[in-house]
Amino acid sequence: MTKVVVVGSINMDLVVVTDRFPAPGETLSGERFLTVPGGKGANQAVAASRLGANVSMVGKVGRDAFGEQLLVGLQQEGIDTRHVGRTDVATGVALITVSGGENSIVVVPGANHALLPADIAAADALLAGADVILTQLEIPLATVAAVLTSAARHGVPVILNPAPAQVLPATLLQQVALLTPNEHELATVLGCPGADMASLLPLLPGKVVMTHGKNGAWHARADGTLYHQPGFAVEAVDSTGAGDTFNGALATFLPLGVEAAMRYAAAAGALSVTRLGAQAGMPRRDELRAFVGN
Ligand code: RIB
Repeated sequence: MTKVVVVGSINMDLVVVTDRFPAPGETLSGERFLTVPGGKGANQAVAASRLGANVSMVGKVGRDAFGEQLLVGLQQEGIDTRHVGRTDVATGVALITVSGGENSIVVVPGANHALLPADIAAADALLAGADVILTQLEIPLATVAAVLTSAARHGVPVILNPAPAQVLPATLLQQVALLTPNEHELATVLGCPGADMASLLPLLPGKVVMTHGKNGAWHARADGTLYHQPGFAVEAVDSTGAGDTFNGALATFLPLGVEAAMRYAAAAGALSVTRLGAQAGMPRRDELRAFVGN
Protein backbone atom coordinates (compact mmCIF):
# COMPACT_ATOMS: atom_id res chain seq x y z
CA MET A 1 0.00 0.00 0.00
CA THR A 2 1.58 3.30 -1.08
CA LYS A 3 1.88 5.80 1.78
CA VAL A 4 0.80 9.14 0.33
CA VAL A 5 0.88 12.42 2.25
CA VAL A 6 -1.11 15.20 0.60
CA VAL A 7 -0.30 18.76 1.66
CA GLY A 8 -2.89 21.13 0.24
CA SER A 9 -6.21 22.86 0.06
CA ILE A 10 -9.60 21.80 1.38
CA ASN A 11 -12.60 23.69 -0.04
CA MET A 12 -16.35 23.52 -0.09
CA ASP A 13 -17.43 23.65 -3.74
CA LEU A 14 -20.62 25.61 -4.46
CA VAL A 15 -21.60 24.25 -7.86
CA VAL A 16 -24.15 25.65 -10.28
CA VAL A 17 -25.11 23.84 -13.49
CA THR A 18 -26.22 26.07 -16.35
CA ASP A 19 -26.97 25.49 -20.03
CA ARG A 20 -24.27 28.06 -20.93
CA PHE A 21 -21.77 30.33 -19.17
CA PRO A 22 -23.09 33.82 -18.26
CA ALA A 23 -21.64 36.84 -20.03
CA PRO A 24 -20.25 39.68 -17.84
CA GLY A 25 -23.16 41.61 -16.34
CA GLU A 26 -25.70 38.92 -17.28
CA THR A 27 -28.03 37.07 -14.87
CA LEU A 28 -28.83 33.49 -15.84
CA SER A 29 -31.16 30.89 -14.30
CA GLY A 30 -29.21 27.83 -13.19
CA GLU A 31 -30.51 24.27 -13.55
CA ARG A 32 -29.06 22.76 -10.35
CA PHE A 33 -27.11 23.76 -7.25
CA LEU A 34 -24.86 21.48 -5.18
CA THR A 35 -22.65 21.95 -2.12
CA VAL A 36 -19.92 19.28 -2.39
CA PRO A 37 -16.42 18.70 -0.99
CA GLY A 38 -13.51 19.95 -3.09
CA GLY A 39 -10.15 21.70 -3.00
CA LYS A 40 -7.24 20.38 -5.03
CA GLY A 41 -5.50 18.89 -2.00
CA ALA A 42 -8.57 17.16 -0.59
CA ASN A 43 -9.60 15.93 -4.04
CA GLN A 44 -6.18 14.37 -4.60
CA ALA A 45 -6.27 12.77 -1.15
CA VAL A 46 -9.71 11.26 -1.80
CA ALA A 47 -8.66 9.99 -5.25
CA ALA A 48 -5.58 8.26 -3.78
CA SER A 49 -7.52 6.81 -0.84
CA ARG A 50 -10.26 5.33 -3.06
CA LEU A 51 -7.52 3.69 -5.15
CA GLY A 52 -6.10 1.94 -2.11
CA ALA A 53 -3.31 4.25 -0.94
CA ASN A 54 -2.71 4.88 2.76
CA VAL A 55 -3.38 8.63 2.81
CA SER A 56 -2.69 11.38 5.32
CA MET A 57 -3.72 14.97 4.73
CA VAL A 58 -1.98 18.12 5.92
CA GLY A 59 -4.21 21.18 5.58
CA LYS A 60 -6.34 23.75 7.34
CA VAL A 61 -10.07 24.46 7.61
CA GLY A 62 -12.07 27.06 9.52
CA ARG A 63 -13.89 26.60 12.83
CA ASP A 64 -17.13 26.75 10.89
CA ALA A 65 -19.81 24.38 9.58
CA PHE A 66 -18.05 23.82 6.22
CA GLY A 67 -14.80 23.02 8.05
CA GLU A 68 -16.53 20.45 10.26
CA GLN A 69 -18.33 18.86 7.31
CA LEU A 70 -15.14 18.63 5.21
CA LEU A 71 -13.10 17.17 8.05
CA VAL A 72 -15.69 14.46 8.71
CA GLY A 73 -15.90 13.77 4.97
CA LEU A 74 -12.15 13.18 4.72
CA GLN A 75 -12.29 10.83 7.71
CA GLN A 76 -15.16 8.89 6.12
CA GLU A 77 -12.92 8.42 3.07
CA GLY A 78 -10.40 6.69 5.35
CA ILE A 79 -7.95 9.61 5.33
CA ASP A 80 -5.80 10.40 8.38
CA THR A 81 -6.64 14.02 9.35
CA ARG A 82 -4.45 14.40 12.45
CA HIS A 83 -2.58 17.21 10.64
CA VAL A 84 -5.65 19.06 9.38
CA GLY A 85 -5.75 22.12 11.65
CA ARG A 86 -8.59 24.50 12.49
CA THR A 87 -8.35 28.30 12.30
CA ASP A 88 -10.61 31.32 12.86
CA VAL A 89 -10.31 32.15 9.14
CA ALA A 90 -13.31 30.87 7.13
CA THR A 91 -12.97 27.54 5.30
CA GLY A 92 -11.94 27.87 1.64
CA VAL A 93 -14.74 27.89 -0.92
CA ALA A 94 -14.88 27.52 -4.68
CA LEU A 95 -17.70 28.97 -6.77
CA ILE A 96 -18.02 26.66 -9.76
CA THR A 97 -20.16 26.98 -12.87
CA VAL A 98 -20.53 23.80 -14.92
CA SER A 99 -21.88 23.84 -18.44
CA GLY A 100 -21.55 21.26 -21.20
CA GLY A 101 -18.99 19.26 -19.23
CA GLU A 102 -16.68 22.32 -18.88
CA ASN A 103 -16.27 24.49 -15.78
CA SER A 104 -15.19 27.91 -14.60
CA ILE A 105 -14.00 28.32 -11.00
CA VAL A 106 -13.43 31.19 -8.58
CA VAL A 107 -11.61 30.11 -5.40
CA VAL A 108 -11.58 32.04 -2.12
CA PRO A 109 -8.64 30.38 -0.26
CA GLY A 110 -9.62 31.42 3.28
CA ALA A 111 -8.19 28.94 5.80
CA ASN A 112 -5.96 27.31 3.17
CA HIS A 113 -3.75 30.40 3.29
CA ALA A 114 -3.33 29.90 7.03
CA LEU A 115 -1.41 26.66 6.35
CA LEU A 116 2.10 27.87 7.18
CA PRO A 117 5.67 26.49 7.22
CA ALA A 118 5.27 25.95 10.99
CA ASP A 119 2.49 23.44 10.20
CA ILE A 120 4.90 21.58 7.91
CA ALA A 121 7.50 21.49 10.69
CA ALA A 122 4.83 20.02 12.99
CA ALA A 123 4.13 17.31 10.38
CA ASP A 124 7.81 16.49 9.79
CA ALA A 125 7.63 12.91 11.14
CA LEU A 126 4.59 12.22 8.96
CA LEU A 127 6.38 13.54 5.86
CA ALA A 128 9.47 11.48 6.68
CA GLY A 129 7.44 8.25 6.62
CA ALA A 130 5.77 8.87 3.25
CA ASP A 131 6.51 6.98 0.03
CA VAL A 132 5.40 10.04 -1.92
CA ILE A 133 4.22 13.55 -1.07
CA LEU A 134 1.66 15.34 -3.22
CA THR A 135 1.17 19.11 -3.11
CA GLN A 136 -0.36 21.95 -5.18
CA LEU A 137 -0.44 25.77 -5.27
CA GLU A 138 -3.70 26.59 -3.41
CA ILE A 139 -1.61 27.03 -0.24
CA PRO A 140 1.14 29.65 0.31
CA LEU A 141 4.28 29.13 -1.79
CA ALA A 142 6.44 29.39 1.37
CA THR A 143 4.55 26.35 2.69
CA VAL A 144 5.19 24.42 -0.53
CA ALA A 145 8.88 25.36 -0.26
CA ALA A 146 8.93 24.05 3.34
CA VAL A 147 7.40 20.76 2.13
CA LEU A 148 10.12 20.41 -0.52
CA THR A 149 12.90 21.16 1.98
CA SER A 150 11.57 18.65 4.48
CA ALA A 151 11.06 16.00 1.77
CA ALA A 152 14.59 16.49 0.44
CA ARG A 153 15.98 16.01 3.96
CA HIS A 154 14.10 12.72 4.26
CA GLY A 155 14.68 11.54 0.67
CA VAL A 156 10.94 11.42 -0.11
CA PRO A 157 9.85 12.27 -3.70
CA VAL A 158 7.41 15.17 -4.13
CA ILE A 159 4.83 15.47 -6.91
CA LEU A 160 3.96 19.15 -7.34
CA ASN A 161 0.73 19.83 -9.23
CA PRO A 162 1.33 23.52 -10.10
CA ALA A 163 -2.31 24.60 -10.02
CA PRO A 164 -3.42 27.33 -10.00
CA ALA A 165 -0.27 28.17 -11.97
CA GLN A 166 2.29 30.84 -11.14
CA VAL A 167 5.90 31.36 -12.19
CA LEU A 168 8.04 29.09 -10.01
CA PRO A 169 11.67 29.74 -9.05
CA ALA A 170 14.27 27.35 -10.54
CA THR A 171 15.48 26.44 -7.03
CA LEU A 172 12.01 25.16 -6.15
CA LEU A 173 11.63 23.25 -9.43
CA GLN A 174 14.97 21.51 -8.80
CA GLN A 175 13.62 19.97 -5.61
CA VAL A 176 10.50 18.54 -7.27
CA ALA A 177 10.55 14.87 -8.35
CA LEU A 178 7.61 15.29 -10.73
CA LEU A 179 5.77 18.39 -11.92
CA THR A 180 2.22 17.71 -13.21
CA PRO A 181 0.88 20.80 -15.03
CA ASN A 182 -1.57 20.96 -17.89
CA GLU A 183 -0.32 22.67 -21.05
CA HIS A 184 -1.19 26.24 -19.93
CA GLU A 185 0.16 25.72 -16.43
CA LEU A 186 3.47 24.44 -17.84
CA ALA A 187 3.89 27.63 -19.88
CA THR A 188 3.03 29.82 -16.88
CA VAL A 189 5.29 27.96 -14.43
CA LEU A 190 8.24 28.33 -16.80
CA GLY A 191 7.48 32.00 -17.45
CA CYS A 192 6.74 31.43 -21.18
CA PRO A 193 3.03 32.23 -21.62
CA GLY A 194 1.72 31.12 -25.01
CA ALA A 195 4.69 28.85 -25.80
CA ASP A 196 3.76 25.41 -27.18
CA MET A 197 4.25 22.15 -25.32
CA ALA A 198 6.78 20.79 -27.83
CA SER A 199 9.20 23.58 -26.92
CA LEU A 200 8.46 23.49 -23.17
CA LEU A 201 8.39 19.77 -22.30
CA PRO A 202 12.13 19.19 -22.93
CA LEU A 203 13.08 22.07 -20.58
CA LEU A 204 12.70 19.90 -17.45
CA PRO A 205 13.86 16.43 -18.58
CA GLY A 206 12.72 13.59 -16.34
CA LYS A 207 10.53 15.88 -14.24
CA VAL A 208 7.37 16.66 -16.18
CA VAL A 209 4.16 14.67 -16.57
CA MET A 210 1.87 17.01 -18.49
CA THR A 211 -1.85 16.32 -18.58
CA HIS A 212 -3.51 17.02 -21.91
CA GLY A 213 -7.27 16.78 -21.26
CA LYS A 214 -8.99 14.03 -23.24
CA ASN A 215 -5.74 13.49 -25.19
CA GLY A 216 -4.12 11.85 -22.15
CA ALA A 217 -0.71 12.87 -20.82
CA TRP A 218 2.94 13.31 -21.78
CA HIS A 219 6.11 12.38 -19.93
CA ALA A 220 9.31 14.30 -20.66
CA ARG A 221 11.83 11.52 -20.13
CA ALA A 222 15.30 12.10 -18.69
CA ASP A 223 16.88 11.12 -22.05
CA GLY A 224 15.06 13.97 -23.81
CA THR A 225 12.44 11.79 -25.57
CA LEU A 226 8.70 12.13 -24.98
CA TYR A 227 6.28 9.38 -23.95
CA HIS A 228 2.58 9.76 -24.73
CA GLN A 229 -0.16 8.10 -22.70
CA PRO A 230 -3.37 8.27 -24.78
CA GLY A 231 -6.60 9.38 -23.12
CA PHE A 232 -9.62 7.14 -22.44
CA ALA A 233 -12.87 8.05 -24.20
CA VAL A 234 -15.82 8.78 -21.89
CA GLU A 235 -18.93 10.96 -21.88
CA ALA A 236 -17.96 14.12 -19.94
CA VAL A 237 -20.49 15.48 -17.43
CA ASP A 238 -18.16 17.63 -15.31
CA SER A 239 -14.39 18.03 -15.73
CA THR A 240 -13.94 19.51 -12.21
CA GLY A 241 -11.36 17.44 -10.33
CA ALA A 242 -10.14 15.43 -13.35
CA GLY A 243 -6.58 16.72 -12.89
CA ASP A 244 -6.80 16.04 -9.16
CA THR A 245 -7.90 12.46 -9.80
CA PHE A 246 -4.99 12.05 -12.22
CA ASN A 247 -2.56 13.28 -9.54
CA GLY A 248 -3.99 11.11 -6.77
CA ALA A 249 -3.77 8.05 -9.01
CA LEU A 250 -0.26 8.94 -10.21
CA ALA A 251 0.96 9.09 -6.61
CA THR A 252 -0.80 5.83 -5.70
CA PHE A 253 0.65 3.85 -8.60
CA LEU A 254 4.07 5.58 -8.70
CA PRO A 255 5.86 2.52 -7.25
CA LEU A 256 5.04 0.79 -10.60
CA GLY A 257 7.10 3.43 -12.44
CA VAL A 258 6.02 6.78 -13.88
CA GLU A 259 4.73 5.57 -17.23
CA ALA A 260 2.79 2.59 -15.84
CA ALA A 261 1.30 4.95 -13.24
CA MET A 262 0.31 7.41 -15.99
CA ARG A 263 -1.94 4.76 -17.58
CA TYR A 264 -3.92 4.29 -14.37
CA ALA A 265 -3.92 8.05 -13.77
CA ALA A 266 -5.30 8.82 -17.25
CA ALA A 267 -8.01 6.16 -16.80
CA ALA A 268 -8.94 7.42 -13.33
CA GLY A 269 -9.07 11.02 -14.59
CA ALA A 270 -11.38 9.97 -17.42
CA LEU A 271 -13.75 8.11 -15.09
CA SER A 272 -13.89 11.11 -12.77
CA VAL A 273 -15.52 13.36 -15.39
CA THR A 274 -18.52 11.06 -15.80
CA ARG A 275 -20.30 12.44 -12.69
CA LEU A 276 -21.16 15.90 -11.40
CA GLY A 277 -18.86 17.18 -8.59
CA ALA A 278 -15.10 16.96 -8.14
CA GLN A 279 -15.11 13.79 -6.03
CA ALA A 280 -18.32 12.02 -7.13
CA GLY A 281 -16.79 10.28 -10.16
CA MET A 282 -13.46 9.30 -8.58
CA PRO A 283 -13.15 5.54 -9.03
CA ARG A 284 -12.32 2.86 -6.48
CA ARG A 285 -9.47 0.46 -7.27
CA ASP A 286 -11.71 -2.37 -8.58
CA GLU A 287 -13.66 -0.04 -10.85
CA LEU A 288 -10.42 1.36 -12.25
CA ARG A 289 -8.90 -2.07 -12.88
CA ALA A 290 -12.09 -3.22 -14.64
CA PHE A 291 -12.05 -0.06 -16.80
CA VAL A 292 -8.40 -0.44 -17.91
CA GLY A 293 -8.78 -4.21 -18.35
CA ASN A 294 -6.35 -5.51 -15.69
O1 RIB B 1 -9.38 21.12 -9.14
C1 RIB B 1 -10.72 21.32 -8.80
C2 RIB B 1 -10.82 22.06 -7.50
O2 RIB B 1 -10.30 23.35 -7.68
C3 RIB B 1 -12.22 22.25 -6.99
O3 RIB B 1 -12.68 21.19 -6.19
C4 RIB B 1 -12.15 23.59 -6.29
O4 RIB B 1 -12.31 23.50 -4.90
C5 RIB B 1 -10.80 24.18 -6.66
O5 RIB B 1 -9.92 24.12 -5.64
